[in-house]
Amino acid sequence: MPSTNVSSSAIQPIRALGLKPGHCAVVGLQWGDEGKGKVVDMLAGASDSDAAEKFDFVVRYNGGANAGHSVQVGEQRYALHLIPSGILNPNLVNVVGNGVVIDPQQLVKEIRELREHKLTVADNLRISDRSHVVLAYHKLQDALLEQAIAKLHGRAAIGTTGRGIGPCYADKALRCTAIRVADLLNERHLLSRLTDITQIKNAQLRPLADLCGEAFEPFDPRKLLDELKPLIEVMRPHICDTAALLHGAQSDGRRLLFEGANATLLDIDHGTYPFVTSSNCSSLGVHTGAGVAGHYVSNVIGVVKAYQTRVGGGPMPTELKDDIGNRIREKGREYGTTTGRPRRCGWLDGVALRYTAAVSGVTGIAITLLDVLADLPQLKVAVAYQHQGKKLTNFPADADVLSAVEPIYETLPGFKGPIDHCRRFHELPAEARAYVQRLEQLAQAPVVMVSVGPRRDQSVFR
Ligand code: GDP
Ligand code: IMO
Ligand code: MG
Repeated sequence: MPSTNVSSSAIQPIRALGLKPGHCAVVGLQWGDEGKGKVVDMLAGASDSDAAEKFDFVVRYNGGANAGHSVQVGEQRYALHLIPSGILNPNLVNVVGNGVVIDPQQLVKEIRELREHKLTVADNLRISDRSHVVLAYHKLQDALLEQAIAKLHGRAAIGTTGRGIGPCYADKALRCTAIRVADLLNERHLLSRLTDITQIKNAQLRPLADLCGEAFEPFDPRKLLDELKPLIEVMRPHICDTAALLHGAQSDGRRLLFEGANATLLDIDHGTYPFVTSSNCSSLGVHTGAGVAGHYVSNVIGVVKAYQTRVGGGPMPTELKDDIGNRIREKGREYGTTTGRPRRCGWLDGVALRYTAAVSGVTGIAITLLDVLADLPQLKVAVAYQHQGKKLTNFPADADVLSAVEPIYETLPGFKGPIDHCRRFHELPAEARAYVQRLEQLAQAPVVMVSVGPRRDQSVFR
């Protein structure tokens, strides 16, 4: 394989993180955009073929093009949505697992963008034949449902990314209207499936469009097929039974790095339902979404932004709608990687963090974007909630309760910046170290890494 891809950095984070033998999952512990892409790229980038400790595969197991993972190497930034963040290292194989929903248009666009950057996308990219396919009617249904709920309730429903994620996972559960990647490989069979499914979709979507006051153009199976054909040809060489591939790799003693998309508070089962996405984005999704049994995953790195952000609707108890919130947004460049939407910003929510660290069973925590909090006079962290005169220390299941709680804050002294040059824990200002140690107590898990800038090298290991 040509070695035109970006070469690894000098740091050896796998050893520095003190990972146990076995596989590792990297998952978000908030509402997404914690910097998972940076952490995965950093671990993947350190996986030189001759390194003593290395990963051999990076595996996406959930979500779809709703994810936006930024990777920065030097001054070059990459935004990845469906392709795993290990693609910058030519020594690794990147796997899009069965739990991912794949929009062929987006996938092929991403492959082409990477090729423009001279990044190899060949046998280092494998796509599961069991993954489900996102098609144009899913994206329309996503948009119309959001519009319909907004019309009925006068507010945005979930504030989805509009990538057709919910409707595609719904079809997966329904089965009779689903298309999997394997179905793309036989044209006659695909046309027959599309012919049946578009009739059902047209019958369902026309009245929904009417409700929204939108014109509706019925989906035509032949047109859909013609649009898909060139995309399928790009995908074809990458498609395989990825679970079998990973089982074989395990037998050969290979090490797998799982890249969570979205985050634990957006998990369909454990997140702030209904303001969540439609997959298991916590570490619990790894096993079903990749076909790798849980006991092989001995390391779970929970990625936590030093403050809280959220895109879209739903409760966010520590949201700051003031100058501090705006300052964090501007300094942290808190605008969506996928949709460009401004992210809601607030103080770190320690109640949510304790909960998500437990749900994902983290073995270590990576705190990111700590540099963004520099030069604030004080830092606050929610340590409990107040609800109807009662103190809550557990994260509530009911979104209405979560909307009504008042955070109980602990105030810590701020620290002076810049800190982006720090590479060792003791080089961080004492107040920054105290803040990290407090988060560690709240999460009840060790902080193994602190990120002080978007680049691979801007990382402090403990
Ligand atoms: P992901 O979805 O979890 O991969 O996160 P995103 O890529 O959507 O958002 C994280 C953003 O923060 C990206 O723009 C990263 O380049 C950037 N980033 C990651 N770590 C740091 C850090 O420690 N400091 C700063 N300033 N930016 C960071
Ligand atoms: P990464 O992987 C931030 C949010 C959306 C919306 C809700 C449901 O970059 O961290 P969906 O389109 O999935 O049906 O939207 O989930 N959301 C994310 N927010 N980062 C993400 O991914 C997200 N993926 C989904 O904003 O509120
Ligand atoms: Mg993101």
